[in-house]
Amino acid sequence: MNLSEQTLLDLLEKKHLLFDTPHFYTLKEGDPRYLDPSEMAHLYVSSALLVTIMEFVSEQLWLSNEEDKKSGVNTLYEDFITPFFLDELAPVLFLKSFFVSGGAENIRVILKDTIAIEKEVLSLIAARPGDDLKEFVVQSLKEMTAHFIHEEKAQESREQSLGHKGLRLYRTFDNLDILFNLNYTLDREMVVDQSAKERLYQRAGAGVQSGYSTILLALHGIDPKEGSSMIDLGSGYGRVGLVWTLLRPDIFFTGYEYVPHRVTVSNAASKVFGLNNYLQFKVQDLSLESFKIPDGDVYYLYDPFTKETYQSVLKQIVEVSRRRKITVVTKGNARSRLMEISEKNSWREPEIIDYGNLCIFESQS
Ligand SMILES: C[S@@+](CC[C@H](N)C(=O)[O-])C[C@H]1O[C@@H](n2cnc3c(N)ncnc32)[C@H](O)[C@@H]1O
Repeated sequence: MNLSEQTLLDLLEKKHLLFDTPHFYTLKEGDPRYLDPSEMAHLYVSSALLVTIMEFVSEQLWLSNEEDKKSGVNTLYEDFITPFFLDELAPVLFLKSFFVSGGAENIRVILKDTIAIEKEVLSLIAARPGDDLKEFVVQSLKEMTAHFIHEEKAQESREQSLGHKGLRLYRTFDNLDILFNLNYTLDREMVVDQSAKERLYQRAGAGVQSGYSTILLALHGIDPKEGSSMIDLGSGYGRVGLVWTLLRPDIFFTGYEYVPHRVTVSNAASKVFGLNNYLQFKVQDLSLESFKIPDGDVYYLYDPFTKETYQSVLKQIVEVSRRRKITVVTKGNARSRLMEISEKNSWREPEIIDYGNLCIFESQS
C-alpha cells in the first residue's frame, strides 16, 4: 500500500488523520504524512472512484437482499462482497479487509465519509500553489484515463459473460470542475433571445458537458500528431479543450461557443492553468453562414446544433476534408449526422466507443 492509499484507509478508519484539527492538509513538506501533488491525485482518484463503487455496492447489496428474501437463503456479507474485488472493486483492493470486517452496515458510512474525503482533497489542492494544482490535475487525468480504458474493456466482457454493464464511471470525476472553476450557475442569469433558434442548453450544467470519460477516451483514440489544431464546435464551458491541452500542450485548441459567459469562464480557466498560448475560446454563432470555420485537424461535436445549423456547419467540414485529412469526433446523436457524411464520402469505418456514444471519424487522406 502506498502513502496515499494508506492515507485513504486512515481517513476511513478515522485514525490519526481526522477532519478536525489538526487537518491532514495542514501538514508541511518534510512531514512523513505529507502528500505531494501526484500522491494527492492518487488519493483524489481513489476517493472519487470509491464514491461510485460504494453507490454500486449499495445497489448490489439491495438486489442481493431481495434475492435472499425470495429464495429464503441468507448470503453472508463476506460471500457477497468478496467476488466484487475481482472486478468492480479491484481498484480499491487495498481496502478489502477494511470492507469485509466493517460488514454490510458500514457501507452507508463509507459512502458518506468518502464523499467528504473527496471534497476535502479538492479543497486542499485548490489552496496549494498553481504549479501544484496543475501537476495534480494532469496526474489525475492520466490516472483517470487508465481507469476509463480499463472500464471500457471490462464493459465489453461483462456484457458478454454476465449480460450487465456493472460499474459506470461517466460522472465519477465531475467534481474536478471545481478546480477549473466552471461555474454553471451563471446560466441562471442567462437571457435567451427568443428569436434565436439555436440549442443553447440553458441551465443544463455539467449534464451537457462531455463527461471526463468521453473526453479522455477520445484523446486516447485520436492520439493527435504534435502541433495538431483541434476545434470544438459549440464548446460550452470548455471542458474538452482544458483537458486535452493539459495533457497535450503541443496541440492548438480553439473552442467556439454561442453563449458569452461560458466563453469567459473557459478562458479564465485556460489562463489559470497557463494554457492560453495554445487554448482559446471565442464567442461565435456558428449558424452564421458569413463565418468561415477554420481548417483544422480535429473537430469535436457534442450535439450542438439545430438541423439547419448542422447542415451549414457540416457542409464546411466536408469542404475542409477535401483539402486535408481530418478527424471528426462525435458525442451523442451527432454521430448519425456524421455517419451520413462518412458513407457519402467513402470515409473509413468510424471507431465506435462506449456503445456509439463516442465515435471517431476520419476522412480519406
Ligand atoms: C451539448 S454542449 C457541448 C459542450 C462541449 N462541446 C462539451 O462537449 O463539453 C453544446 C454547446 O453548443 C453550443 N451551441 C449551440 N448552438 C451554437 C451555435 N450556433 N454556435 C455556437 N455554439 C452553439 C451550446 O450553447 C452548448 O454550449
